[in-house]
Formats: sequence, C-alpha cells, structure tokens
Amino acid sequence: MTLDDLLFTSAEMQQIGIQHLAPIVDISGHADMTERVSLFESFVAEFEPLLGHTPRWEGFCFIVRELLSRDTLRILETGTLRKVGNWAGDGCSTKIWDWIKEHKVGDIQIVSLDSDRQACAVAREECKHVWVLCKDSITYLRNITDVQLDLVYLDSYDYSPGRETNACMHQVAELASIWEQLPSGCLIASDDSHNPDQGKPALTRRLLSMLGIEPLLDSYIVVWKKP
Ligand SMILES: C[S@@+](CC[C@H](N)C(=O)[O-])C[C@H]1O[C@@H](n2cnc3c(N)ncnc32)[C@H](O)[C@@H]1O
Repeated sequence: MTLDDLLFTSAEMQQIGIQHLAPIVDISGHADMTERVSLFESFVAEFEPLLGHTPRWEGFCFIVRELLSRDTLRILETGTLRKVGNWAGDGCSTKIWDWIKEHKVGDIQIVSLDSDRQACAVAREECKHVWVLCKDSITYLRNITDVQLDLVYLDSYDYSPGRETNACMHQVAELASIWEQLPSGCLIASDDSHNPDQGKPALTRRLLSMLGIEPLLDSYIVVWKKP
C-alpha cells in the first residue's frame, strides 16, 4: 500500500469519518498522516469554490494530493500568475503553489518563471511565498543543475489562434531543456489540453508516449511522472 492509497477524496472522508483514519495512519508509518489528509481537505475547502467548476480542478487535486505526500518539495513553474482572480481563465496555478508553501511544514522551494515583467510584478504581489523570476523559461531551464524537482508545471506561451504550433514546440523545448536534470519520480504537468491533438501538451504527449511514458492523468491538465 502506498501513501497515495491512503489519501481520500472529500466524499470518501465524509463517508468514513476522520476518526476512523487513525488505525490506517499508524500502519502507514507516517506519524503526521492525519495532518497530511487534513491539509488536503483544507486545500479543497479553500480552492474548490474558486476552481471546482473549472476543467483544471481534477488536475490540481491530483497534483496537490501527490505533492502533499512528499516530505520535501521543489516546484518549478513556467508561466506565472499574470492576472488576479483569473481562476477560470488562466487557472491561477501560482496561487496553489503559494498556498502549499504557506501551509505545508517542511523544506519547500517554489520558483515561477515568466519573461514578462508585468506578470512577474503581479505574481510577486499575489504570491509572497514563491520566488518569481523574470526570465525566459528555456534559457533558465537549460542552466539548472542539482535541483531535485518534484513538479515541473509547464504553462508558458499561450495556445492562441495562429500560434498553436509555436506553443506546442515551446513546451517540448522547455521539457527538453530540463529533462536530463529531472529525477525519477518528478511530476511533469501541462496546462491547456483541449483534446489529444489540440492544446499546449499535444506534442509533449506524443513525444513522451514514444518513449513509453503515458500520462498518469489526461485531463485539461495532463500529468506524467518521470520513470
Ligand atoms: C497562461 S500564462 C501563465 C498562467 C499561470 N500559470 C496561471 O495559472 O495563472 C502564460 C505566461 O507565460 C509567459 N511566457 C510566454 N513565453 C515565455 C517564455 N519564453 N519564458 C517565460 N515565460 C513565458 C507569458 O508572459 C504569460 O505570462
């Protein structure tokens, strides 16, 4: 049984009742298991009203559950929060990483990259626990060494009319720039998947599939784990 098996959905939690988790907690070997489960509940309570109705909710829940089960966290995001409260539009992913850093105990570092100065200014104001760096993602990723990343969240370069191929190519370039440095077990996630052939991860999905790496979750947010 893995830690993942012990994390419950809100509905399951309500059915079971939190007090019945205690014996399961003991056998997991994690003394703070109740804390980890309740932290996920807190995440749901805070973000479901904002994101629960959007296609990203499933992906964010999947990622946060997985990240909360880890002891230390290194998160790197390309494309930062550029507009306050744009939950249904951009998704405000940076707010979620910021929340994790604020609430989860432990050694946690979060970096969010954006080449646009205005976007960086907004994110710095809104996400006080995130290192927001005003950099071109590919240049920065190419020069990273010795970071044991847990999540790379790829959300730069808008998938907009007439620029679809550019957006897909850009994402592949980002992933290629950092691939060698990613440890086994690192989550790789992409926003904006419209269907298997449209959206930012359309080429990334094909490339990784050719390498035998299929998504753990293929939703509007696609999530892979590096073998
Ligand atoms: C969709 S927004 C990011 C949204 C954010 N992750 C959120 O959920 O609110 C995309 C961002 O990528 C940035 N971007 C585009 N090309 C980039 C590049 N080469 N390097 C870094 N950032 C880039 C844009 O400036 C824009 O702010």
